[in-house]
Amino acid sequence: MYYPDEVVEEIRMKSDIVEVLSGYVKLQKKGSNYFGLCPFHNEKSPSFSVSGVKQMYYCFGCGAGGNVFTFIMEYENYSFQEAVKFLAKRAGVGLPDMEYSEEARKKEGRRAKLLEVNKEAAKYFYYQLRGPAGQAGCQYLKKRQLTEETIHRFGLGFSNQASDDLTRYLRKKGYGDKLIQEAGLASFDEKHGMYDKFWNRVMFPIQDGNHRVIGFGGRVMGDAKPKYLNSPETMVFDKGRNLYGLNFARAARTNYMILCEGYMDVIAMHQAGFSQAVASLGTAFTPGQAALIRRYAQEVVLAYDSDGAGVNAALRAIGILKEAGLTGKVLSLEPYKDPDEFIKNQGQEAFKERIRQAENSFFFELRILAGDYDLSDPESKTKFHREIARKLCSFTEEVERENYIEAAAQKYHIGFENLRKLVYAYAARTGGVQPAVRPKPGIASQKDPGEKKKKPQKLLLTWLVEEPALYGKIKKYISTEDFTEDLYKKIAEKLFRDLEEGALNPAGIISLFTEEAQQREAAGVFNTRLMQLGSRQEQEKAFHDIVVAVKRNSLEYASSRLGGDVSALNQVIEGKKALEELSKTHISLD
Ligand code: UTP
Ligand code: MN
Repeated sequence: MYYPDEVVEEIRMKSDIVEVLSGYVKLQKKGSNYFGLCPFHNEKSPSFSVSGVKQMYYCFGCGAGGNVFTFIMEYENYSFQEAVKFLAKRAGVGLPDMEYSEEARKKEGRRAKLLEVNKEAAKYFYYQLRGPAGQAGCQYLKKRQLTEETIHRFGLGFSNQASDDLTRYLRKKGYGDKLIQEAGLASFDEKHGMYDKFWNRVMFPIQDGNHRVIGFGGRVMGDAKPKYLNSPETMVFDKGRNLYGLNFARAARTNYMILCEGYMDVIAMHQAGFSQAVASLGTAFTPGQAALIRRYAQEVVLAYDSDGAGVNAALRAIGILKEAGLTGKVLSLEPYKDPDEFIKNQGQEAFKERIRQAENSFFFELRILAGDYDLSDPESKTKFHREIARKLCSFTEEVERENYIEAAAQKYHIGFENLRKLVYAYAARTGGVQPAVRPKPGIASQKDPGEKKKKPQKLLLTWLVEEPALYGKIKKYISTEDFTEDLYKKIAEKLFRDLEEGALNPAGIISLFTEEAQQREAAGVFNTRLMQLGSRQEQEKAFHDIVVAVKRNSLEYASSRLGGDVSALNQVIEGKKALEELSKTHISLD
């Protein structure tokens, strides 16, 4: 690990979880815990809980959970080290300054390196634009009516005509060819050696939500192809999980965001005062991007190009927004091609008016759909109505569905009862209205074949956290060696030590893990609610079964390694004895 454990623990203790998370989620006190709407999945009633006592959070809806570091990692898209740095600053804890020493630089993760080299490249492009080589770029941006302030704000730059000047610059700054290639800033081939990816283009640095440069888009100034050249995906550049302009849009404090297609659209919008505009990164809009938006806004106004491709892209985006629980509206730019052109011709006030008039996404879908049918032909018209009914089935909430049936009926001159019947007939045929499925990635599926072995290990840990006194009763039978799952073993090692010292510290245990997925799983140990088993007797039986299952699994595991390993033999002999004894022993919970 990069920072010493004591420092990490100090920062954690000085970053009260309730206080920190309150800055992100509206929390309400209920009993000894706090509850709010989970920022990591779509929900209408709060299942996101924060415990001040345990210094942990957990969502009963999607299983997200962890300590204060986990939250910052997940919310801000930070690595563990970055989250530590972020919270250290907030808590006013000085970190050992490792960044500038040569040795620490070597140790630093690849991720940090990539961010560094991208930042350096962005600086280089920025100065090129302002130098003698950048004249053509300046002229181009002026022609596109960008102000000096806007150019500065978005860090726009220029890659000149030389084919390896960036590489040479970066080498001089101490970056290796491998890193430069890995960042997608240059390529290598036998004939030319290293050559820059971008040349003779206006450069758009792409920043993540925290203003860090993660990649570039470069535009030609003429008509050459491709119009935009983009950095490839790298460890820090995940095109499906970032949005152009989000670094400013997240601070815009409107309850909606404007989603455009292009970089230039975003820039033109921001320049006109719409700092809530974002765009995807040269690829189609993704569920990951919808989830990102959902952290900051409830509604999305789509401002896609008004051509056929734009309409199709909008239709696809609407589906994704709906899945993510966001309300969608579609803005008309007619008679202009895109937001950039609209703003230039009509200005800010007219655009505001278009936002006000934006069409509900469902009716947008119906309107486009209607284009496929000949409504003067009864046959075709009926098919259209059936199609409307089918779409209406997607509203799972009854009130909402009824409202939409009513509105659609009115709009397309269908009898309300008739349409309603059509909807319910369709639902009956296809097995009811479609349930909204919103799976949360990153959580272990229950179908995992190893689950049967893992579960008792996890539950045993949970029991020990909930009832520490049990530790004294089982330590005779169970050691940390009995945990065959690496993650649980690591937890057990720390937990058993804590229990020996009588100082339980669940949130501290989570910091042992630097991967978000592992932190999540570790958090599950401390947040699983033990089944409320009826009588004390039944509870005792359940606990006994768990202890036996853990021991048996450990024994099986050791047996499977017999032959090559002497310690396994000892473990088997010892395990058999313990298991026998265990099955005869009553473990009281009192
Ligand atoms: P557009 O062609 O609409 O570009 O592509 P634009 O943003 O309006 O740019 P200008 O106004 O012509 O300069 C929309 C987006 O699609 C991606 C870029 O992200 C662009 O902003 N794109 C487009 C590419 O990645 N490569 C291309 O060759 C074209
Ligand atoms: Mn465009």
